Amino acid sequence: MVQIYVHCVAIEMLFRGLRTTARSVESSNGLNAQVCTVLGAQWGDEGKGKLADVLQKDYDISARFNGGANAGHTIVFDDKKFAFHLLPCGLVYPHTMNLIGNGVVCHIPSIFTELVPLQDAGIKTDGRLKVSDRCHILFEFHKQVDGILESRRSGNSKLGTTKQGIGPAYTSKATRNGVRMGMLKGDWTAFENAYTNLAEHHEMVYDIKVDKAAELKNLKDFRDRMMEQDMIQDTMFLLNSAHQQGKRILAEGANACMLDLDYGTYPYVTSSTTTGGGLATGLGLSTNKVDCSIGVVKAYTTRVGAGPFPTELTDDLCGGDLPRGAPETDIGAHLQKVGAEIGVTTGRKRRCGWFDAPLMQYSQMINNYSSINITKLDCLDELDYVKIATAYKKKSDGSVLRPGEMPSTIDGLYDIEVEYETLPGWKTNISSCRKFEELPIQAQNYVNRIESLVGAPVSWIGVGPGRTEMATKGF
Ligand code: GDP
Ligand code: IMO
Ligand code: MG
Repeated sequence: MVQIYVHCVAIEMLFRGLRTTARSVESSNGLNAQVCTVLGAQWGDEGKGKLADVLQKDYDISARFNGGANAGHTIVFDDKKFAFHLLPCGLVYPHTMNLIGNGVVCHIPSIFTELVPLQDAGIKTDGRLKVSDRCHILFEFHKQVDGILESRRSGNSKLGTTKQGIGPAYTSKATRNGVRMGMLKGDWTAFENAYTNLAEHHEMVYDIKVDKAAELKNLKDFRDRMMEQDMIQDTMFLLNSAHQQGKRILAEGANACMLDLDYGTYPYVTSSTTTGGGLATGLGLSTNKVDCSIGVVKAYTTRVGAGPFPTELTDDLCGGDLPRGAPETDIGAHLQKVGAEIGVTTGRKRRCGWFDAPLMQYSQMINNYSSINITKLDCLDELDYVKIATAYKKKSDGSVLRPGEMPSTIDGLYDIEVEYETLPGWKTNISSCRKFEELPIQAQNYVNRIESLVGAPVSWIGVGPGRTEMATKGF
């Protein structure tokens, strides 16, 4: 009996020891976490890149776990601006190791194209980027097919994809004839055969002609460059070993909750898991190793590409309760202009609308954010008033959805009528505020109202695009 007790105590102590060897301090703002994930909470372009950049200086590893070159993450510092699509933003900090996890679909030429502006800025990148050997390769024909599928859709059924080949590449993965990065490290003839089989499959199914010889030649050159830098690795093992050694890991989510393949406004979504679970499947790092998950959310809402958008400000829908032609019809255009709402990857104008609390309650329910980063609050500076969607009501039967509920069908989403509340604007330039308490009281009230509706603490507040243009709340 005594022996069993001693044994149990020893096991308990061992586990406690293990737990404390890693830096496991719970921290909701990302400053003290060992593993922190930055997630898009709305339809993308919330400013994930900027927060990742703010936090990254104290992290050892920066990792992407989902999507591909469909992302566009902007970081701005010292009069420099970088746009990342496929690579993690952490590359700008010389001390970091950067990973592309197995959950990403990787277009190899894009790796090298994207490294050029960094190298031109004097940032050494050699040896600092590792790509998972389990990562699926996105080929030129995946892009070609993305364009073809989109052109075959008509009217409202067009998804407005980024045409980066994302859907077709994940299709190859799911139909189990995809080609993984690890094959590039093995026998070239075996790789050539796998590539040719996949290319021929696409030629047959989509009635296209693929220049296989040209792509294979390019890939062979890129393979040599990747080998020189030992770029293809078992990133899953690397990451978990680093975690065990107490290294700090920042996982940079791409795309966003409402674009998630399962939870988003399907079929107007992307083809990967953009929510918290994507980190486990896309990096091989268990979710119970994640200490902090920050949801990045704009102080209003934007969407690029097609699909339902309940709080969209358009000429016909004046945010809810104003007659057509009232001044509010200009607010969408104002936000688009002041927020420079142009897609980083496609150059398309982003659609704009009011802050949507029911959407955020759904996003919070799925991701359980430790805290949220409200971005672009400064873009509301000139407005006389600001509106927040507080509830979704069904047009068909007048019933109000409970917090966290979201229709699963497009028809259901178009059946939504939005209830709003209006708060006074602050009509003040807030770009120099660095603490929540320095914001005008109306802006503080707006932030507090969002916090209470979403049910997650606000930790960071964006007041401008630059790295330093961030106000903190609660610390
Ligand atoms: P991401 O995809 O989530 O990383 O976001 P994007 O980079 O696509 O879009 C966000 C845009 O807003 C970028 O141009 C950022 O530089 C900019 N931005 C980020 N945070 C703020 C902010 O707090 N205020 C302003 N005015 N711009 C911001
Ligand atoms: P970041 O990481 C905004 C949208 C596209 C399209 C839909 C499907 O910068 O926030 P895809 O090419 O993925 O098949 O397109 O998803 N989309 C994004 N919108 N920001 C993104 O990424 C996006 N990634 C995909 O516009 O509507
Ligand atoms: Mg973006």
